[in-house]
Amino acid sequence: MESSCTTIVDKLQRRLDVAREAAQRAGDIILKHANNTLQEISTKSNATDLVTQVDQLAEQIIIQYISQHFPNDTIIGEENSADSSGYHSMEGQPIPNHHLDENIGVWCVDPLDGTTNFCHGYPVVTVSIGCCFDGIPRIGVIYNPFLGEMYEAMEGHGAYRNRQQRLTVDTSTSLTNCLLVNNIGHLRSTEFVDESTTRISKWFHAGLRGFRSSGSAAQNMAHVASGQVSCYYEHLFGGPWDVCAGYIIVKEAGGILIDPTNESTFVMKYGKGSICCGNPDVVKDVLRVAGKPQHFK
Ligand code: IPD
Ligand code: CA
Ligand code: CA
Repeated sequence: MESSCTTIVDKLQRRLDVAREAAQRAGDIILKHANNTLQEISTKSNATDLVTQVDQLAEQIIIQYISQHFPNDTIIGEENSADSSGYHSMEGQPIPNHHLDENIGVWCVDPLDGTTNFCHGYPVVTVSIGCCFDGIPRIGVIYNPFLGEMYEAMEGHGAYRNRQQRLTVDTSTSLTNCLLVNNIGHLRSTEFVDESTTRISKWFHAGLRGFRSSGSAAQNMAHVASGQVSCYYEHLFGGPWDVCAGYIIVKEAGGILIDPTNESTFVMKYGKGSICCGNPDVVKDVLRVAGKPQHFK
Protein backbone atom coordinates (compact mmCIF):
# COMPACT_ATOMS: atom_id res chain seq x y z
CA MET A 1 0.00 0.00 0.00
CA GLU A 2 1.34 3.45 -0.85
CA SER A 3 1.63 6.29 1.64
CA SER A 4 1.01 9.90 0.69
CA CYS A 5 4.75 10.61 0.81
CA THR A 6 5.55 8.12 -1.99
CA THR A 7 7.39 10.12 -4.65
CA ILE A 8 6.15 10.18 -8.24
CA VAL A 9 9.26 8.33 -9.38
CA ASP A 10 8.73 5.61 -6.76
CA LYS A 11 5.12 5.11 -7.67
CA LEU A 12 5.91 4.87 -11.39
CA GLN A 13 9.02 2.75 -10.92
CA ARG A 14 7.13 0.21 -8.80
CA ARG A 15 4.43 -0.06 -11.44
CA LEU A 16 6.97 -0.42 -14.22
CA ASP A 17 8.64 -3.29 -12.35
CA VAL A 18 5.27 -4.99 -11.84
CA ALA A 19 4.27 -4.43 -15.48
CA ARG A 20 7.54 -5.96 -16.71
CA GLU A 21 7.14 -9.06 -14.55
CA ALA A 22 3.46 -9.46 -15.48
CA ALA A 23 4.31 -9.18 -19.20
CA GLN A 24 7.05 -11.77 -18.81
CA ARG A 25 4.67 -14.20 -17.09
CA ALA A 26 1.98 -13.71 -19.75
CA GLY A 27 4.62 -14.11 -22.48
CA ASP A 28 5.70 -17.43 -20.98
CA ILE A 29 2.11 -18.67 -21.13
CA ILE A 30 1.77 -17.52 -24.75
CA LEU A 31 4.93 -19.39 -25.74
CA LYS A 32 3.94 -22.48 -23.79
CA HIS A 33 0.60 -22.74 -25.58
CA ALA A 34 1.67 -21.49 -28.98
CA ASN A 35 1.23 -24.87 -30.64
CA ASN A 36 -1.28 -26.77 -28.58
CA THR A 37 -4.97 -27.33 -28.27
CA LEU A 38 -5.55 -24.64 -25.68
CA GLN A 39 -5.55 -22.45 -28.73
CA GLU A 40 -9.26 -23.00 -29.38
CA ILE A 41 -10.54 -20.06 -31.40
CA SER A 42 -13.77 -18.14 -30.75
CA THR A 43 -15.02 -14.89 -32.25
CA LYS A 44 -16.04 -11.61 -30.61
CA SER A 45 -17.52 -8.57 -32.42
CA ASN A 46 -17.54 -10.34 -35.82
CA ALA A 47 -16.03 -13.30 -37.66
CA THR A 48 -12.62 -11.60 -38.02
CA ASP A 49 -12.30 -10.57 -34.36
CA LEU A 50 -10.72 -13.63 -32.72
CA VAL A 51 -10.03 -14.70 -29.16
CA THR A 52 -8.42 -17.85 -27.75
CA GLN A 53 -8.23 -19.36 -24.28
CA VAL A 54 -4.61 -18.23 -24.23
CA ASP A 55 -5.72 -14.56 -24.43
CA GLN A 56 -7.99 -15.18 -21.45
CA LEU A 57 -5.45 -17.11 -19.43
CA ALA A 58 -2.72 -14.53 -20.05
CA GLU A 59 -5.09 -11.74 -18.97
CA GLN A 60 -6.00 -13.56 -15.75
CA ILE A 61 -2.33 -13.94 -14.88
CA ILE A 62 -1.61 -10.26 -15.52
CA ILE A 63 -4.64 -8.99 -13.60
CA GLN A 64 -3.89 -11.25 -10.66
CA TYR A 65 -0.28 -10.11 -10.49
CA ILE A 66 -1.09 -6.39 -10.76
CA SER A 67 -3.92 -6.55 -8.22
CA GLN A 68 -1.70 -8.40 -5.77
CA HIS A 69 0.70 -5.43 -5.82
CA PHE A 70 -1.76 -2.56 -6.31
CA PRO A 71 -5.11 -3.69 -4.91
CA ASN A 72 -6.60 -0.19 -5.20
CA ASP A 73 -5.71 0.42 -8.84
CA THR A 74 -8.26 0.01 -11.64
CA ILE A 75 -7.49 -2.49 -14.41
CA ILE A 76 -9.10 -2.32 -17.85
CA GLY A 77 -8.25 -5.67 -19.45
CA GLU A 78 -9.35 -6.30 -23.03
CA GLU A 79 -10.96 -9.67 -22.43
CA ASN A 80 -12.62 -8.80 -19.17
CA SER A 81 -13.95 -5.46 -20.48
CA ALA A 82 -15.60 -7.27 -23.36
CA ASP A 83 -18.05 -8.76 -20.86
CA SER A 84 -18.48 -5.88 -18.47
CA SER A 85 -21.38 -3.62 -19.42
CA GLY A 86 -19.72 -0.73 -17.54
CA TYR A 87 -16.93 -0.51 -20.08
CA HIS A 88 -19.23 -0.21 -23.09
CA SER A 89 -21.27 2.56 -21.54
CA MET A 90 -18.05 4.62 -21.28
CA GLU A 91 -17.23 4.47 -25.05
CA GLY A 92 -15.68 7.71 -26.30
CA GLN A 93 -15.09 9.15 -22.83
CA PRO A 94 -11.55 10.03 -21.77
CA ILE A 95 -9.81 7.63 -19.39
CA PRO A 96 -9.92 9.47 -16.07
CA ASN A 97 -8.26 8.84 -12.78
CA HIS A 98 -11.71 7.83 -11.53
CA HIS A 99 -10.79 7.97 -7.95
CA LEU A 100 -9.29 11.43 -8.09
CA ASP A 101 -6.54 10.03 -5.95
CA GLU A 102 -3.04 10.67 -7.16
CA ASN A 103 -1.86 7.31 -5.89
CA ILE A 104 -4.36 5.22 -7.83
CA GLY A 105 -3.38 4.11 -11.30
CA VAL A 106 -5.63 3.04 -14.19
CA TRP A 107 -4.08 0.15 -16.10
CA CYS A 108 -4.89 -0.81 -19.70
CA VAL A 109 -3.92 -4.39 -20.48
CA ASP A 110 -3.83 -6.25 -23.77
CA PRO A 111 -2.70 -9.74 -22.77
CA LEU A 112 -2.16 -10.81 -26.37
CA ASP A 113 -2.10 -8.18 -29.09
CA GLY A 114 -2.11 -9.86 -32.46
CA THR A 115 -4.54 -12.71 -31.86
CA THR A 116 -5.01 -13.35 -35.58
CA ASN A 117 -1.23 -13.67 -35.96
CA PHE A 118 -1.13 -15.98 -32.94
CA CYS A 119 -3.82 -18.23 -34.43
CA HIS A 120 -1.85 -18.52 -37.65
CA GLY A 121 1.51 -19.05 -35.94
CA TYR A 122 2.82 -15.71 -37.26
CA PRO A 123 5.19 -14.48 -34.55
CA VAL A 124 4.14 -10.83 -34.37
CA VAL A 125 2.40 -11.09 -31.02
CA THR A 126 2.86 -8.84 -28.01
CA VAL A 127 1.76 -8.39 -24.43
CA SER A 128 0.97 -4.73 -23.81
CA ILE A 129 0.59 -3.24 -20.33
CA GLY A 130 0.37 0.48 -19.56
CA CYS A 131 -0.65 2.50 -16.54
CA CYS A 132 -2.24 5.96 -16.53
CA PHE A 133 -2.38 8.61 -13.85
CA ASP A 134 -4.76 11.46 -14.55
CA GLY A 135 -5.76 9.83 -17.84
CA ILE A 136 -2.22 9.92 -19.26
CA PRO A 137 -0.06 6.81 -19.71
CA ARG A 138 3.02 7.23 -17.51
CA ILE A 139 4.61 3.80 -17.73
CA GLY A 140 4.34 0.99 -20.26
CA VAL A 141 5.82 -2.29 -21.40
CA ILE A 142 5.38 -4.14 -24.69
CA TYR A 143 6.78 -7.66 -24.81
CA ASN A 144 7.12 -9.91 -27.85
CA PRO A 145 7.81 -13.35 -26.35
CA PHE A 146 8.67 -14.91 -29.74
CA LEU A 147 11.45 -12.38 -30.33
CA GLY A 148 12.40 -12.02 -26.66
CA GLU A 149 12.06 -8.24 -26.95
CA MET A 150 10.80 -6.17 -24.01
CA TYR A 151 10.17 -2.49 -24.75
CA GLU A 152 9.51 -0.18 -21.83
CA ALA A 153 9.30 3.43 -20.75
CA MET A 154 8.61 5.57 -17.73
CA GLU A 155 7.67 9.22 -18.05
CA GLY A 156 10.75 11.45 -18.07
CA HIS A 157 13.18 8.53 -18.12
CA GLY A 158 13.45 7.48 -21.77
CA ALA A 159 12.40 4.37 -23.66
CA TYR A 160 14.42 1.14 -23.78
CA ARG A 161 14.56 -2.28 -25.37
CA ASN A 162 15.62 -5.11 -23.08
CA ARG A 163 16.60 -2.52 -20.45
CA GLN A 164 19.83 -1.71 -22.29
CA GLN A 165 19.18 -0.08 -25.63
CA ARG A 166 17.89 3.48 -25.50
CA LEU A 167 15.30 4.06 -28.21
CA THR A 168 14.68 6.98 -30.57
CA VAL A 169 12.21 7.48 -33.37
CA ASP A 170 13.65 7.69 -36.88
CA THR A 171 14.43 10.88 -38.79
CA SER A 172 12.28 10.38 -41.89
CA THR A 173 10.94 13.67 -43.17
CA SER A 174 8.14 12.74 -45.56
CA LEU A 175 6.36 9.85 -47.26
CA THR A 176 9.24 9.44 -49.68
CA ASN A 177 11.60 8.19 -46.97
CA CYS A 178 8.96 6.67 -44.69
CA LEU A 179 8.32 3.05 -43.80
CA LEU A 180 4.66 3.26 -42.82
CA VAL A 181 2.78 0.60 -40.90
CA ASN A 182 -1.01 0.77 -41.16
CA ASN A 183 -3.13 -1.92 -39.57
CA ILE A 184 -6.67 -2.50 -40.72
CA GLY A 185 -8.55 -3.85 -37.70
CA HIS A 186 -11.65 -5.99 -37.58
CA LEU A 187 -14.31 -3.77 -39.20
CA ARG A 188 -15.57 -4.91 -42.60
CA SER A 189 -18.31 -2.42 -43.53
CA THR A 190 -18.11 -1.33 -47.16
CA GLU A 191 -17.49 2.29 -46.12
CA PHE A 192 -14.67 1.37 -43.79
CA VAL A 193 -12.98 -0.99 -46.25
CA ASP A 194 -13.29 1.48 -49.14
CA GLU A 195 -12.02 4.40 -47.11
CA SER A 196 -9.10 2.36 -45.75
CA THR A 197 -7.99 1.13 -49.16
CA THR A 198 -8.41 4.58 -50.76
CA ARG A 199 -6.17 6.05 -48.06
CA ILE A 200 -3.49 3.45 -48.80
CA SER A 201 -3.59 4.20 -52.50
CA LYS A 202 -3.27 7.96 -51.77
CA TRP A 203 -0.07 7.29 -49.80
CA PHE A 204 1.38 5.20 -52.62
CA HIS A 205 0.47 7.81 -55.25
CA ALA A 206 2.25 10.42 -53.12
CA GLY A 207 5.46 8.37 -53.31
CA LEU A 208 5.40 6.32 -50.07
CA ARG A 209 8.66 4.36 -49.73
CA GLY A 210 7.31 1.27 -47.96
CA PHE A 211 4.05 -0.06 -46.53
CA ARG A 212 3.51 -2.77 -43.88
CA SER A 213 0.58 -4.10 -41.86
CA SER A 214 1.69 -6.13 -38.85
CA GLY A 215 -1.45 -7.30 -37.03
CA SER A 216 -0.28 -5.94 -33.66
CA ALA A 217 -0.85 -2.30 -32.79
CA ALA A 218 1.50 -2.51 -29.82
CA GLN A 219 4.29 -4.06 -31.91
CA ASN A 220 3.94 -1.15 -34.32
CA MET A 221 4.33 1.40 -31.56
CA ALA A 222 7.39 -0.41 -30.19
CA HIS A 223 8.87 -0.31 -33.70
CA VAL A 224 8.09 3.38 -34.11
CA ALA A 225 9.93 4.02 -30.83
CA SER A 226 12.95 1.99 -31.93
CA GLY A 227 13.02 3.70 -35.35
CA GLN A 228 12.47 0.37 -37.15
CA VAL A 229 9.36 1.79 -38.75
CA SER A 230 8.81 5.50 -39.31
CA CYS A 231 5.12 5.89 -38.60
CA TYR A 232 2.11 3.90 -37.40
CA TYR A 233 -1.39 4.90 -38.57
CA GLU A 234 -4.62 3.17 -37.64
CA HIS A 235 -8.19 4.39 -37.92
CA LEU A 236 -10.41 2.58 -35.40
CA PHE A 237 -8.06 0.33 -33.47
CA GLY A 238 -9.79 -1.91 -30.91
CA GLY A 239 -9.46 -0.13 -27.56
CA PRO A 240 -7.22 1.74 -25.10
CA TRP A 241 -5.27 -1.46 -24.30
CA ASP A 242 -3.88 -1.41 -27.88
CA VAL A 243 -2.04 1.89 -27.42
CA CYS A 244 -1.62 2.66 -23.69
CA ALA A 245 1.87 1.20 -23.26
CA GLY A 246 2.89 2.34 -26.75
CA TYR A 247 1.84 5.93 -25.98
CA ILE A 248 4.50 6.44 -23.34
CA ILE A 249 7.12 4.34 -25.15
CA VAL A 250 6.75 6.39 -28.37
CA LYS A 251 6.71 9.66 -26.43
CA GLU A 252 9.81 8.83 -24.45
CA ALA A 253 11.54 7.91 -27.72
CA GLY A 254 10.86 11.45 -29.01
CA GLY A 255 7.73 10.77 -31.06
CA ILE A 256 4.37 12.53 -31.19
CA LEU A 257 0.89 10.98 -31.19
CA ILE A 258 -1.97 12.59 -33.12
CA ASP A 259 -5.63 11.63 -33.48
CA PRO A 260 -6.31 11.75 -37.27
CA THR A 261 -10.04 12.36 -36.75
CA ASN A 262 -9.43 15.83 -35.25
CA GLU A 263 -5.73 16.32 -36.00
CA SER A 264 -5.11 17.10 -32.33
CA THR A 265 -2.93 15.47 -29.71
CA PHE A 266 -4.06 11.89 -29.11
CA VAL A 267 -6.10 11.41 -25.92
CA MET A 268 -6.68 8.06 -24.19
CA LYS A 269 -10.37 7.09 -24.39
CA TYR A 270 -12.61 4.13 -23.76
CA GLY A 271 -13.65 2.34 -26.95
CA LYS A 272 -12.15 2.42 -30.42
CA GLY A 273 -9.70 5.13 -31.37
CA SER A 274 -7.56 6.47 -34.18
CA ILE A 275 -3.87 7.23 -34.05
CA CYS A 276 -0.88 8.39 -36.06
CA CYS A 277 2.55 8.43 -34.39
CA GLY A 278 6.18 8.95 -35.32
CA ASN A 279 8.49 11.94 -35.55
CA PRO A 280 6.64 15.26 -36.10
CA ASP A 281 7.71 15.71 -39.75
CA VAL A 282 6.67 12.32 -40.96
CA VAL A 283 3.38 12.37 -39.02
CA LYS A 284 2.53 15.70 -40.64
CA ASP A 285 3.13 14.35 -44.14
CA VAL A 286 1.26 11.08 -43.54
CA LEU A 287 -1.78 13.00 -42.24
CA ARG A 288 -1.61 15.64 -44.99
CA VAL A 289 -1.99 12.99 -47.66
CA ALA A 290 -4.48 10.80 -45.73
CA GLY A 291 -6.97 13.60 -44.99
CA LYS A 292 -9.43 13.21 -42.13
CA PRO A 293 -11.14 9.79 -41.90
CA GLN A 294 -14.94 9.94 -42.20
CA HIS A 295 -16.24 6.46 -41.49
CA PHE A 296 -16.71 5.36 -37.94
CA LYS A 297 -18.44 1.97 -38.14
C1 IPD B 1 -5.90 -5.90 -32.79
C2 IPD B 1 -4.53 -5.79 -33.38
C3 IPD B 1 -4.65 -5.32 -34.81
C4 IPD B 1 -5.33 -3.97 -34.88
C5 IPD B 1 -6.65 -4.01 -34.20
C6 IPD B 1 -6.54 -4.53 -32.77
P1 IPD B 1 -6.11 -7.95 -31.05
O1 IPD B 1 -5.85 -6.39 -31.46
O2 IPD B 1 -3.72 -4.89 -32.67
O3 IPD B 1 -3.40 -5.19 -35.40
O4 IPD B 1 -5.49 -3.63 -36.22
O5 IPD B 1 -7.18 -2.71 -34.19
O6 IPD B 1 -7.81 -4.64 -32.20
O7 IPD B 1 -7.54 -8.23 -31.36
O8 IPD B 1 -5.18 -8.80 -31.82
O9 IPD B 1 -5.81 -7.89 -29.60
CA1 CA C 1 -5.26 -5.58 -29.30
CA1 CA D 1 -5.85 -8.72 -27.53
